[in-house]
Amino acid sequence: MKEYKITLLKGDGIGPEIVDEAVKALNKVAAKHRFQVRYDEAYLGGIAIDKTGVPLPEETVTKCKASDAVLLGAVGGPKWEDQPGDNRPEAGLLGIRGALGLFANLRPAVIFEPLRQASPLKAEIIGEAMDIMVVRELTGGIYFGERGRMEKNGVPGAYDTEMYTVPEVERIARVAFDLAMKRGKKLCSVDKANVLEASRLWRETVLKVAKEYPQVELTHMYVDNCAMQLVRNPKQFDVIVTSNIFGDILSDEASMISGSIGMLASASLGQGKMGLYEPIHGSAPDIAGQGIANPLATILSVAMMLRYSLDQDQAADDIENAVNEVLKVARTPDIYTEGTRRVSCIEMGDLVCAQL
Ligand code: IPM
Ligand code: MG
Repeated sequence: MKEYKITLLKGDGIGPEIVDEAVKALNKVAAKHRFQVRYDEAYLGGIAIDKTGVPLPEETVTKCKASDAVLLGAVGGPKWEDQPGDNRPEAGLLGIRGALGLFANLRPAVIFEPLRQASPLKAEIIGEAMDIMVVRELTGGIYFGERGRMEKNGVPGAYDTEMYTVPEVERIARVAFDLAMKRGKKLCSVDKANVLEASRLWRETVLKVAKEYPQVELTHMYVDNCAMQLVRNPKQFDVIVTSNIFGDILSDEASMISGSIGMLASASLGQGKMGLYEPIHGSAPDIAGQGIANPLATILSVAMMLRYSLDQDQAADDIENAVNEVLKVARTPDIYTEGTRRVSCIEMGDLVCAQL
């Protein structure tokens, strides 16, 4: 029997609750599709600071590197707000992405049919279906550029640097073009080339890579326009490729179109098969421990894990179908609409498992 090694980074806030439900779903499909999963846990984020003093202990990196895939909950919370910037929980998250070389972040914004009512957009704007894949560059740009405090004309200031190299843009562009080839063959590259030099390099490089993909229809869009177009006419998009910071912002926006940020999964991939899977939402400290968090983004992240790292496509389909079925009858508070049953985090996990 095939066996996979998964490292769990439950993290902070609602992280542990949602990861527990995702593990239940993974165990269920493993039994059904006859493979075995061995779990290991490691600390990341605030909990890691509490236990070891740093947000990303060396041991966590070692464990992750030795696994087939990593499942992450979320990190951060008010408790660690006063930590210096490089010792905040978020620094641990950026650190693990960097340490594992996970430069490609795939964030699919899909609308589940039963959730159409939950979208803040009008039905005619959403149309029949919405299926956008946001490809976010994850280990470069302003997140990883030089930053610091400085003085300008005697007054205190601070700076962060947006920087990309040609190979960094090339490799993320190829991931996006490859995905576009498997989907609707449309790619929109988002930048701010009317202002930023790093964006001009981005656009030039994407245009160069485009020559390898003559079948893909490539367009370019400024990020401000893209933010507007996402709510004006989301159907125009198939694959979006963009920088680290623009991808962070646009994927939150795209997630809301699908009804709730509690629904959006993500995969972070590097050169090999190994990947890190996490919901795109945060640790939601305000609702942590109340049992009302939506575990579906994490459960759907497991589906992405099955597809991209474990080659278990059938099991991935099963999870996505199960989520779709359960949404017809039950909802966590964030996506609740009248006529459905309001359920807790654990109940939602149980229902998905029962459907599986
Ligand atoms: C995300 C999050 C992170 C990011 C934070 C928590 C550092 O917002 O995964 O989108 O900005 O990448
Ligand atoms: Mg974000």
